Amino acid sequence: MLTGGGDCPGLNAVIRAIVRKSLTYGWECIGIENGWKGLMDIYTRPLDMNAVSGILQKGGTILGTSRTNPYKSDGGEQKVIDNAKKLGLDALIAIGGEDTLGVANKLAKTGFKVVGVPKTIDNDLNGTDYTFGFDTAVNIAMDAIDRIHTTAESHHRAMIIEVMGRHAGWIAMHAGIAGGADLILIPEKEIKLDEVIKVMDDREKRGRTFSIIVVAEGAKISESDQKNSEMVLQDQKLDAFGHVRLGGIANLLAEIIEKKTGVETRATILGHIQRGGSPTAYDRVLGSRFGVHAVEMVKDGKFGRMAALRGTEIIDIPIEEAVKDLKLVGDDFYDVARTFFR
Ligand code: F6P
Repeated sequence: MLTGGGDCPGLNAVIRAIVRKSLTYGWECIGIENGWKGLMDIYTRPLDMNAVSGILQKGGTILGTSRTNPYKSDGGEQKVIDNAKKLGLDALIAIGGEDTLGVANKLAKTGFKVVGVPKTIDNDLNGTDYTFGFDTAVNIAMDAIDRIHTTAESHHRAMIIEVMGRHAGWIAMHAGIAGGADLILIPEKEIKLDEVIKVMDDREKRGRTFSIIVVAEGAKISESDQKNSEMVLQDQKLDAFGHVRLGGIANLLAEIIEKKTGVETRATILGHIQRGGSPTAYDRVLGSRFGVHAVEMVKDGKFGRMAALRGTEIIDIPIEEAVKDLKLVGDDFYDVARTFFR
């Protein structure tokens, strides 16, 4: 098994479940270190019962991770296939998000025996109602919003809290609704400054002298308000999957809002705090269920497929279905959140 892409609370629950379930079939498990990099360079470690003891409550991944993309190296695909043979792997369980599973999908098309487990705090993978890690991130963000509420109220300030969510606003929506945000800004809906200011004005008229605004890192200010309506980047570097480093929309908004309204405004960027630390019970259980199901998929020869949550059931779907488009926040859910934008 390998864990790829950004780390995520609950990864160790999946690893533990895969090992425990595999042992019931008498199989031997090997951990590939640092995602696809470990399969390109052959870095592995044996995973037995003791190796996965005491890891359930730990954040991160005991296997390490990377954003290595074998398809970005000459002959990378063949190297992965050859190295898997060298290691004597009968099957690979790839635990990751759109990038890691995108690689798994391409490999599966060559006949490589791989199954997928969906991981991302962003919850933007298609075909599964939830990915593990998301619930932990939402709870961390909600706790931060609760804390920011009290200081916002004391200082009569507008507070802007930036959460993760590159293309999808799931964390912003869930944490924002749970934390009683006055406004939630997400990548799926362009930010209209007039609407932001109207909410703040209306609140002031009602005697509410503070505002809590949650913004997803990938949200953009509308073109009519800002000449270059682009995502706010930390720098221009791209990772092996062509992703930029986002971050800073909260700072930009704070500056604009303070200028336009005269209300003292502060920005807080939660960043990687959302990905660190112990997983919630929900993520431990979901990760454990995905891990057990992935082993069943290997046993049944269901390669090229990914474990997924539908309602309360764990099912499996083609990896292709999960990676072809991202799962975005829909209008219905956004309309629910709008009820509270005041
Ligand atoms: O893909 C998950 C994610 O947490 C995004 O929300 C965020 O933009 C990105 O990872 C950050 O990645 P890194 O850890 O490489 O900075």
